[in-house]
Amino acid sequence: MSEIEWDDSLSVGVDLIDEQHKMLIEKLKDLSNDLRKGHEQDKILKTLGFMIDYTDFHFTAEEKVMAENDYPELEDQQQQHAEFKATLDNILLDLREDGPTDELAKSINVFLLNWLITHIKGTDQRLGTYLNEKGLAK
Ligand SMILES: [Fe+2]
Repeated sequence: MSEIEWDDSLSVGVDLIDEQHKMLIEKLKDLSNDLRKGHEQDKILKTLGFMIDYTDFHFTAEEKVMAENDYPELEDQQQQHAEFKATLDNILLDLREDGPTDELAKSINVFLLNWLITHIKGTDQRLGTYLNEKGLAK
């Protein structure tokens, strides 16, 4: 999973959002690498903390763009974002309680990454198309 790199197939056609997605993928890779290298729980908690903060920042920014531009799928996006954040919160709880188990590494490598890629390639690319068609992409 740490092989994942941002490429043009992940572009939504909006620079600000693309830059944030690149950062989000980097944060996810950091987390995956921490687990793979068997870093201490404290270090992993810190990396996960960065990931959670950045995710919050990114979702807020994206939802603001949608709200400002009367995007019809805003509610659906908000719901998807809330679910992802809830998953991250659960991962945080699991990490605090059980430490960095193999199962946790797997949910990070498989679930979080898959969710992110699927979300970007479907939901967010639709947003990009909408903004570009209306000439609203900055
Ligand atoms: Fe996004």
